[in-house]
Amino acid sequence: MDGHGEIRATATGRLAGKTAIVTGAGGGFGEGIARLFAAEGARVAILDIRQDAAERVAADLGDEVIAIAADVGSRADVERAIGEVSKRFGTPDIVINNAGWTHRNQPMLDVDEETFDRVYRINVKSIYLIAQAVVPMMQSKGGTIINIGSVAGIRPRPGLTWYNGSKGAVNILSQSMAVELAPTGIRVNCICPVLGETGLLDSFMGVPDTPENRARFLATIPMGRLSRPSDIAHAALYLASDEAAFLTGVLLPVDGGRSV
Ligand SMILES: NC(=O)c1ccc[n+]([C@@H]2O[C@H](COP(=O)([O-])OP(=O)(O)OC[C@H]3O[C@@H](n4cnc5c(N)ncnc54)[C@H](O)[C@@H]3O)[C@@H](O)[C@H]2O)c1
Repeated sequence: MDGHGEIRATATGRLAGKTAIVTGAGGGFGEGIARLFAAEGARVAILDIRQDAAERVAADLGDEVIAIAADVGSRADVERAIGEVSKRFGTPDIVINNAGWTHRNQPMLDVDEETFDRVYRINVKSIYLIAQAVVPMMQSKGGTIINIGSVAGIRPRPGLTWYNGSKGAVNILSQSMAVELAPTGIRVNCICPVLGETGLLDSFMGVPDTPENRARFLATIPMGRLSRPSDIAHAALYLASDEAAFLTGVLLPVDGGRSV
């Protein structure tokens, strides 16, 4: 469940001089993104609700990477965290809204209201709260926001209805943010991963991760494997870099062909 071994940085540092915030970077895709961005020369703030997890990742990555414990669904936490980042590193150039959560794969009517609210709070409201905190400061110099949506918001699977809806919201609000913020020089793009080897895998599958159960999911992915943190990190690196200067409003499936 790691996939970080395949992260390879370039010698030149494609993000040198930039400050990046990566939410949910205490594990999974976010950890992969934080590791690659640090290797490419960015100053990185790792935000995660699990302080120990954020500190574990930051500990390997040197002085220009900081760990901040914050719940992205809490306005007070988001404002405090963004304040800490800007005090330490200045205005962020790159914000990756990656923190996310799902209800377990189950019939839609079995998901209780508290769980439904939690899915939308972590997956959707967080983007609203972070936008409120960062857009006013970013728009004077431009920047880029990358939301981690999902192929679940394009080609939904049964059993994940409310999660799928939350990711459909992430996908479309990314495009809407992109058109609204384009005149300010802030680019907004969205990465749509397919099922990946992270902490959420068991909940997405809803059945034990046995070779037989995995094979059923793999059969729906033309390239025949799950996504890895390195796949998502390299896509995020491109979208965050100046090479993607004219890209905004893109929904980029990183899915081995699943959404075709
Ligand atoms: N793994 C997949 O199959 C898959 C597929 C498509 C999209 N995604 C999306 O990718 C993103 C990353 O998920 P992952 O698969 O790496 O999961 P993960 O559980 O491995 O990592 C998510 C991280 O977010 C943190 N987090 C959870 N709630 C938080 C909160 N309220 N505030 C701050 N941090 C919080 C967790 O502590 C964890 O470190 C999510 O948005 C998820 O929906 C995952």
